[in-house]
Amino acid sequence: MAEAVFEPKIVAFLCRWCAGAGADLAGTSRLAYPPNAVPIRVNCSGRVEMEWVMEAFRSGADGVLIGGCHPGDCHYVSGNYKTRRRVHLLKRMLAELGIEPERVRLEWVSATEGAKFARVMKEFVADLKKLGPLTLEREEKRSAAPVLPKAGT
Ligand code: FES
Repeated sequence: MAEAVFEPKIVAFLCRWCAGAGADLAGTSRLAYPPNAVPIRVNCSGRVEMEWVMEAFRSGADGVLIGGCHPGDCHYVSGNYKTRRRVHLLKRMLAELGIEPERVRLEWVSATEGAKFARVMKEFVADLKKLGPLTLEREEKRSAAPVLPKAGT
């Protein structure tokens, strides 16, 4: 019997002004890219809380994509600069928890970059296939404490 092919599940937080519009353009331009992502529109990438990313992992995502406007193009001036700092911290925290930081990808995609969005999706899916499924139980055994504690607990 053939072994099932691993298809990574991705949660994609997309800023509605740029990355979300880029994703729409990829679709309307009929660019082929893997359908592995559940897109979640946000007003700005700076709105994406670390806790949302952790909740995505807890809920079964193998990877999280955060897409925002290019530096200097954020509709809220500096939201994407905050995102960049936050993602840097998040990746360090994931590494501490024994989770590959590459499971979070930050990309700047403008509304005119449908082709870039399609390329990013293809690359991210390929990278996650190499990493394999995220198995939090395995990580929890490695650590005495729960890997992904809820905020405020
Ligand atoms: S509005 Fe797009 S990243 Fe801020």
